[in-house]
Amino acid sequence: MAKILCVLYDDPTTGFPPVYSRDGVPVIASYPNGQQAPTPHAVDFTPGELLGSVSGELGLRRFLEDSGHVLVVTSDKDGPDSTFERELVDADVVISQPFWPAYLTAERLAKATHLKLAITAGIGSDHVDLDAAIERNVTVAEVTYSNSISVSEHVVMMILSLLRDYLPAHDIVRRGGWNIADAVQRSYDLEGMHVGTVGAGRIGTAVLRRLAPFDVHLHYVDKYRLPEQVERELGLTFHADLREMLPLLDVVTINTPLHGETERLFDDAMIATMKRGAYLINTARGSPTGTPSCVRSRAASLRATRATSGTRSPRRPITRGGPCRTTG
Ligand SMILES: NC(=O)c1ccc[n+]([C@@H]2O[C@H](COP(=O)([O-])OP(=O)(O)OC[C@H]3O[C@@H](n4cnc5c(N)ncnc54)[C@H](O)[C@@H]3O)[C@@H](O)[C@H]2O)c1
Repeated sequence: MAKILCVLYDDPTTGFPPVYSRDGVPVIASYPNGQQAPTPHAVDFTPGELLGSVSGELGLRRFLEDSGHVLVVTSDKDGPDSTFERELVDADVVISQPFWPAYLTAERLAKATHLKLAITAGIGSDHVDLDAAIERNVTVAEVTYSNSISVSEHVVMMILSLLRDYLPAHDIVRRGGWNIADAVQRSYDLEGMHVGTVGAGRIGTAVLRRLAPFDVHLHYVDKYRLPEQVERELGLTFHADLREMLPLLDVVTINTPLHGETERLFDDAMIATMKRGAYLINTARGSPTGTPSCVRSRAASLRATRATSGTRSPRRPITRGGPCRTTG
């Protein structure tokens, strides 16, 4: 028997279960690399239902309890009096989401003497002190391809809405106005622009693939070069050095994990090498850009944004009205 402690975000303020706007979602049989998608046998929910909030319980309760395990689910994750901190002391497994992170710091890991497995219900485990986890023989596991396509679609949405200045134009209409000059003065086409991703893993490659039909010039940097056939198919330019790529780009998107090399990578000096008016979309957690300095440095010309589900910095919860929620 194992105790599984699962930290999930709160239910919708409108109540749970939500009223779904669609009757289903497409069946995805394989990943973009051709690998077969999982075929679990004990599913007791309808795909497309909201499972990520507290009442959804990731669809795990019956599955785990039928096998004799104990499941504790909470959204209360911060501070020494939180349910997470209390329940952690005898938990065998922790499941946490990167976008509602239950931080597993060295101090918390020291208290979690039963802990064997910390599962990230997504990608990116920068909310876990990996060195401390290794020291304590705690396995940290991620769900490969979880949200990768969602994030890539989100990046494309962000690029198009920033370039077209869509949200401010929408606001003009909501306020009852329609001066076309106001709406179009900062609106541009993507066609012909130079777009680059920092990191061409699952998300970065999916972004490049989705942008190729827009007739843009595509660039990337990564520690590992993509296969020649992919570079040819998508017309990609590989750069071994970010500093060489950055000044060429009209649109930059960061899709790397957050680790020692990427933390604060986009500091003021790096941002200063970007074209005036370039757009920066960061899905790689808070720290590769450190929003306040990046927004400060070229506020009038650089449009900075972060994908909503990655809007946070390490050891810092998302705050209402905080800079990490900026979208324009
Ligand atoms: N915003 C979100 O909702 C969300 C969701 C999922 C993942 N993410 C973030 O995106 C990251 C990437 O996800 P993925 O599924 O594409 O992962 P992935 O492992 O498939 O790809 C990561 C890529 O980054 C490259 N990379 C690592 N360090 C680098 C560096 N210093 N310079 C250049 N390239 C580097 C790797 O070589 C790899 O190709 C995750 O680690 C997570 O932090 C965000």
